[in-house]
Amino acid sequence: MDGYSWVHRVDDVNLEELAHLYRVAPLGNKSPQALATVFGNSMFVCFVYSDGALVGAGRALADGVDCAYIGDVAVHPDHQGRGLGSAIMRRLVELADGHKKIILYANPGTEDFYGRLGFLRMKTAMGIWSDPGRAIEIGLLSGEHSQE
Ligand SMILES: CC(C)(COP(=O)(O)OP(=O)(O)OC[C@H]1O[C@@H](n2cnc3c(N)ncnc32)[C@H](O)[C@@H]1OP(=O)(O)O)[C@@H](O)C(=O)NCCC(=O)NCCS
Repeated sequence: MDGYSWVHRVDDVNLEELAHLYRVAPLGNKSPQALATVFGNSMFVCFVYSDGALVGAGRALADGVDCAYIGDVAVHPDHQGRGLGSAIMRRLVELADGHKKIILYANPGTEDFYGRLGFLRMKTAMGIWSDPGRAIEIGLLSGEHSQE
């Protein structure tokens, strides 16, 4: 994609600017300290700049062989709808190539976006959330142990 430059090291990123990107995307309030930890612990990281401004990001937490989990993919609203989110996803999938499984969970409403990138629905995915009430409210968790 023309006009965008890519960075793959969190050390080169201003974490206040990254927190701002997630606020406006919007993908929630993430503190610079928390972002330093989660990106620092992720095997693959992706940051995209346009005219010196951070406009896209994403990461994959991976063990190098079995499983890679993609998360925190966001694009600045001024740059959404131009293919950048898809490009970040394709780059992370490419970086995680060779893992037996690459997984994610989608924000409700974004399932088609990931489906077009080759992700299939997982029939038995389950999770333990620190705040299940909120996750149930926004449609991420069903609140049931078994399939409805
Ligand atoms: C989701 C997100 C990363 C997509 O980035 P983007 O740069 O706009 O994506 P693209 O331009 O590559 O869009 C690819 C396609 O997905 C669709 N799409 C984009 N965002 C979507 C959304 N939130 N819901 C449903 N479809 C979406 C686009 O319409 C486009 O479809 P098209 O090719 O038929 O026109 C971006 O909208 C975003 O940051 N949203 C807020 C944060 C978020 O929800 N992140 C995902 C967490 S699971």
